[in-house]
Amino acid sequence: MGSVNIVDKMPKKTPLNNQINSQNTLETEGFLDSTLRPNTWAEYIGQDHIKENVKILLLAASQRNHPAEHLLFYGPPGLGKTTLAHLIARETGRQIRITSGPAIEKVGDLASILTNLQPGDILFIDEIHRLNKMIEEVLYPAMESGVLDIIIGKGPSARTIQLDLPAFTLIGATTRVASLSAPLRSRFSGGAYRLEYYSQTELMQIVERSAKLLGLEAEAEAILEVVIRSRQTPRTANYFLKRVRDFAQVYDKPTSKEVAKQALDMLGVDEHGLNQSDRKYLEVLIEKFNGGPVGVQTLAQALSEEESTIEDVVEPYLIQQGFIERTSRGRVATPKARTHVS
Ligand code: ADE
Repeated sequence: MGSVNIVDKMPKKTPLNNQINSQNTLETEGFLDSTLRPNTWAEYIGQDHIKENVKILLLAASQRNHPAEHLLFYGPPGLGKTTLAHLIARETGRQIRITSGPAIEKVGDLASILTNLQPGDILFIDEIHRLNKMIEEVLYPAMESGVLDIIIGKGPSARTIQLDLPAFTLIGATTRVASLSAPLRSRFSGGAYRLEYYSQTELMQIVERSAKLLGLEAEAEAILEVVIRSRQTPRTANYFLKRVRDFAQVYDKPTSKEVAKQALDMLGVDEHGLNQSDRKYLEVLIEKFNGGPVGVQTLAQALSEEESTIEDVVEPYLIQQGFIERTSRGRVATPKARTHVS
């Protein structure tokens, strides 16, 4: 039932802005500085497939004088889903309202957010896979027809009225597209776009720009060292750059390759970009489970980690780098992983 009971479901507080839960890992805790965020399409490096398609879609919508259709961005953390949403708002001159799946606890929370939008606003819902079913169902008619179904009263005398909403564009982001229900996914009429890991060249451009914005005179080899260890992820690269800057400043040294190496070694990240959690994962898989196959639940227990953290944060890069494989019987370590751990 995609409707809201307005009598008892109105929230005390609108769960917008500053309530986004980010994964509390080393790399994400200092999430991307707004100062480092690209402000124009030209500054947004990589993800060319998404840029080409989304730019056309936005331009066509603006020529028709319509808000853009709803967009879904998915992929591993740190690749720029939130950054893209901000950029779209900036480039189209729209206001962006930010919330997240877990911050919308009640149907009334969503009703309040939707009714408070201004015409043309962008509503960004991070971790959209974590919306509960009842809330999702309120979202369907809002996305499809721009209406909110409201139930007034209770029991047999209850009746439904429809409220027209201001026209808006929903941008959803998720690390787990497979957890999204098919009906929700199908309502992203502007398409679902997968963000890819960045190439070394792309990441070099991003980090060089960040160094400039931070006023850091870093040697090219120091930047390369940051890039090599950044698991092809801008958020991680920018985080490492800032730690290298701190290290150079505290020890009063130039930002050289050697200083970058020392700073990154101190953070526990190796030349493959693997951190302590990654190495522990590989050690447990190889030493405790003989290289697999082993189920993710069992691995999560052995590592005392949440299954979702393992699946969303740890594994995507290990798979991408060919350290592990996901098979129907469970996770398997590759020869590359065995060499790395031994
Ligand atoms: N920061 C995060 N993602 C970025 C990108 N794709 N280009 C430039 N800066 C970024």
